[in-house]
Amino acid sequence: MEICCIGAGYVGGPTMAVMAGKCPDHNVTVVDTNAARIAAWNSSTLPVYETGLDDVIAACRDRNLHFSVDIDEAIARAEMIFVSVNTPTKSYGIGAGRAADLKFVELSARRIAAAAKGPKIIVEKSTLPVRTAQSLKRVLHANGDGHAFQILSNPEFLAEGTAIRDLLRPDRVLIGSDDNPDAVAARQKLIDVYTRWVPLNRILTTNVWSSELSKLVNNAFLAQRVSSINAISALCEATGADVDQVASAIGRDTRIGPRFLKASIGFGGSCFQKDILNLVYICEYYGLSEAAAYWNGVLEMNDWQKRRFVRRMITAMFNTLSGKRIAILGFSFKKDTNDTRESPAAYVCRDLIDEQAQLAIYDPKVPAAAIMADLERLTGLSHQDLGGRVVCERDAYAALHQAHALVVLTEWDEFGDLDFERVLDSMRRPAFAFDGRNTLPHDTLRQLGFEVYAVGK
Ligand code: UDX
Ligand code: ADP
Repeated sequence: MEICCIGAGYVGGPTMAVMAGKCPDHNVTVVDTNAARIAAWNSSTLPVYETGLDDVIAACRDRNLHFSVDIDEAIARAEMIFVSVNTPTKSYGIGAGRAADLKFVELSARRIAAAAKGPKIIVEKSTLPVRTAQSLKRVLHANGDGHAFQILSNPEFLAEGTAIRDLLRPDRVLIGSDDNPDAVAARQKLIDVYTRWVPLNRILTTNVWSSELSKLVNNAFLAQRVSSINAISALCEATGADVDQVASAIGRDTRIGPRFLKASIGFGGSCFQKDILNLVYICEYYGLSEAAAYWNGVLEMNDWQKRRFVRRMITAMFNTLSGKRIAILGFSFKKDTNDTRESPAAYVCRDLIDEQAQLAIYDPKVPAAAIMADLERLTGLSHQDLGGRVVCERDAYAALHQAHALVVLTEWDEFGDLDFERVLDSMRRPAFAFDGRNTLPHDTLRQLGFEVYAVGK
C-alpha cells in the first residue's frame, strides 16, 4: 500500500519511521511544507532527537520510507493519508489562548481534496477537538471532485523521549470510525497495518467522537496527576513531609499505581496544556462551567508550581537574584528530547530574567539558538538585550563556573552524575542547589556543603 503522512514533526516522523520499519511492503512518504525540516530528515542530523530513532530511520530511509516536499504527488499516489500537522492553541480571535487552531488541519484537508485523483482513507493523527472529523469530511466532500473519502480518528499516544518504545509496544491503538460498511472496511485496512506488530487485543475501536475525546481526556488525566502531586509537594515543603515518600506510599495502592507521581517544577510539552485548554473550551461551549473550572484548576496549579519554585529561590538567596550568575541545567520540557514547547524550564528562566539574574544555561540536546529564540519570545527582550543576560554554555561545568546557584530544570541523567566536589570548588559561597526535578543526590550535596532545596522536601 502507498501511505502518505502530512506533517514531519515529533509525531509524524517517528510514527511513520516505525510503521515503515514494521511494514516493509508498504511504501511510506512523509511530506511537509517546511523544506528545511524535510532536508534534516534526509540528512544525518535528524530534526527530532529520540532514543533509538536514528537506527529505525537508517533501516528504512530511501527503502520504503521517504521524506519529501512534493505534497501533491504523495497525496495523489497514496491510498491512506495520515494527517499529523500541528494544532497549537489559537493565538488570535475568538478562543485565543484556549481553543485549538485548526488552520493547518483544514489546509491539509483542502490540499488532499485538490490533489486526490481517487478514493482515500484519511487518518487523523493530530490531537483534535471533538467533532473535527465531521468538519474534515465536509471540507473534503465539498472540494474533492466526488471521490470517496473515509475519515478515521487514530490519536497518537507516544510520549517524547520514549517515542520509539511507545510506538513499538503501545498500551493500545485507538481507532475511531463511522459504522457504515465503507468506513468499517477502511478501518480494517488500518487495523491490518497495525497488526503487523501490535497484538489485536490492543487495538480498540470506537466511534469517531469517543476517539477524539479520549485523546484529550487521556492527557488531561495524566496532567492532573502531575498537578495533584505538585499540590501535595507544596504541603510537604510546609510540613516537613517528603513528597517522594508520599508518592511511593500512595503509589503502592494498586488503584492509584506508581507512575506519573513525580513532583516537579510543573509539566510542559506540546500536549498537556493545549489539550486541557481545549477541553476547558469545549466544556464551556456546552455550558458545563463547573467541569471547565475543574480542569482549568490543573493548569492553574501548574502555573503556580513554576512561580512557587522561583519564589523559593528568591527567598533562599537573601531576597535578591539581581546580577547573580545562576546555572540552569536543562531546558527541554523533559529528558531525552530536544523539544522545548511549553517547557517549564523556559518559564522559570523568564521569571529569573525578570529578577535580573544572569543565566548560564546548558542543555545536552537543545541548541543555543533554540533556547535564545524561546526566551526572546517569552521575555519580549531584543536579541541583544537578552544576550546581556543569558549565555548558553557547552557543558554543565562551564555553566556552573562562578555560579551562585545550581538549578536543575530538566531531569537529564547526566546531571545526577556530575563531579559535585569539582562543581562546588568552582561556585560562589554559599553554594545553592535548587533541584526542580528531584534528580540530584541531595545527601551527598549537603555533606559537601551545598545548601539544597528540592521540590516537596
Ligand atoms: C504526553 C502524553 O504522555 C502522551 O501520551 C501524549 O501522546 C502526548 O503528551 P509528552 O508530553 O511527550 O507526552 O511527555 P510526558 O512524559 O507525558 O511528560 C509531560 C510533562 O509532564 C513533562 O514536562 C514531564 O516532565 C512532566 N511530568 C511527567 C512530571 O512532572 N511528573 C511526572 O510524574 C510525569
Ligand atoms: P507534532 O508534535 O504534533 O508532530 P510538529 O510541530 O513537530 O507537531 O509537526 C507538525 C509538522 O506539520 C510541522 O513540521 C509543520 O511544518 C507541518 N505542517 C503544518 N501544516 C502543514 C500543511 N498544511 N502541509 C504540510 N505540512 C504541514
